[in-house]
Amino acid sequence: MSRIVLGVAGGIAAYKACEVLRRLSESGHEVTVVPTPNALEFVGATTWAALSGRAVATSVFENITEVPHVRIGQQADLVVVAPATADLLARAATGRADDLLTNVLLTATCPVLMVPAMHTEMWLHPATQANVATLRERGVLVMEPASGRLTGADTGPGRLPEPVDIVAVATSVLGDERTADAVRARDLTGRHVVVSAGGTHEALDPVRFLGNASSGLQGIALARAASLRGARVTLVAANVSLPLPSGCTVRTVRSTAELAEAMLELQADADAIVMAAAPADFTPEAPADGKIKKDGDGGLTVSFKQTTDVLKTLSHARPREQVIVGFAAETAADEADLLRLGRAKLERKGCDLLVLNNVSGGAVFGEPDNTVTIIDATGVVEAAAGSKSAIAHRIWDAVVAAGQEKK
Ligand code: CTP
Repeated sequence: MSRIVLGVAGGIAAYKACEVLRRLSESGHEVTVVPTPNALEFVGATTWAALSGRAVATSVFENITEVPHVRIGQQADLVVVAPATADLLARAATGRADDLLTNVLLTATCPVLMVPAMHTEMWLHPATQANVATLRERGVLVMEPASGRLTGADTGPGRLPEPVDIVAVATSVLGDERTADAVRARDLTGRHVVVSAGGTHEALDPVRFLGNASSGLQGIALARAASLRGARVTLVAANVSLPLPSGCTVRTVRSTAELAEAMLELQADADAIVMAAAPADFTPEAPADGKIKKDGDGGLTVSFKQTTDVLKTLSHARPREQVIVGFAAETAADEADLLRLGRAKLERKGCDLLVLNNVSGGAVFGEPDNTVTIIDATGVVEAAAGSKSAIAHRIWDAVVAAGQEKK
């Protein structure tokens, strides 16, 4: 259980913070909501108090005995401000202390995550961008806003990212100093990374396909983590039904052939590629044009051909500085067996890094946690266990190190 302060600034997206609060509380965290006075124009104090089960104040002069303004910030394990408006970012950047939330921001020593939401013009304004840069320089984690439909008819960057996305980012830095440091360092700034996620569908006929159980959770975590570390991210999503992370360009594909085409096209402009998707190794040689009908009591015989090995093709075509990462789920007898299988696969595929996991105890598809061993041609880079988010950051740590070695 961690102590989280949820700061809410005065923007229409304040209503979405109710969902952030609910998700954080349901995960067992103790959440104190600190709205700005303007935020109460959108969602009232009663709602925040009822949802959090805790007293709500907006000014340092309210509830003096119950809500000591200095202690709220000092005792927090994480402060999340969602939505962070242009005004809140400006006040935080200049160190103002004109309401309870800005007082909390000045007294907090824990990680602080700001989630901006505002009209596109306000977000892109040099004043806001300078404030964001100042906050980032000081170690504040500022998420990229999502792009899309805003409150009026306008569209563009400025939407509050989805609550699931905010909670995923918040929990990834909570109690994980190494991740928080990597995010603060923004060590993927200026890089374009391409991540594939999900599982491909190979058509048998116009209504049926052969698929696999990959949910896309690890690929999504990788894309979200890279975006937070400053990268420009393209996510190639194969049949992913989960909410996709904000701040990434998404390309959807269905089959292994489409995945191969997208990845090979994106390779030309990528600094790193992570193949977290589960493509099919075989595809029906000749998918039926019409729906396959039962023919008496007979069975069905389908002839398959091999698909393109995307990882191998990318690895063999890569420019020297590009870092390529593959995944391998193996049923190994023990750690030594896993490493033996991994080393052979790394060599066969020709990638720089391979993320191995032993699935002999059961598959990890759709599970929030994982245990992996990251290897390169010289041996084990790191063994990591934890949330798919934490593992995503360990993989980017290894990518950053591999990129430096290639220079
Ligand atoms: N992969 C790929 N293209 C394929 C199949 C797999 O790019 N047609 C990638 C996966 O995305 C993963 C890596 O290769 O990153 C390893 O996948 P895996 O299924 O373990 O590889 P295979 O070559 O199919 O090995 P095996 O014979 O052990 O199944």
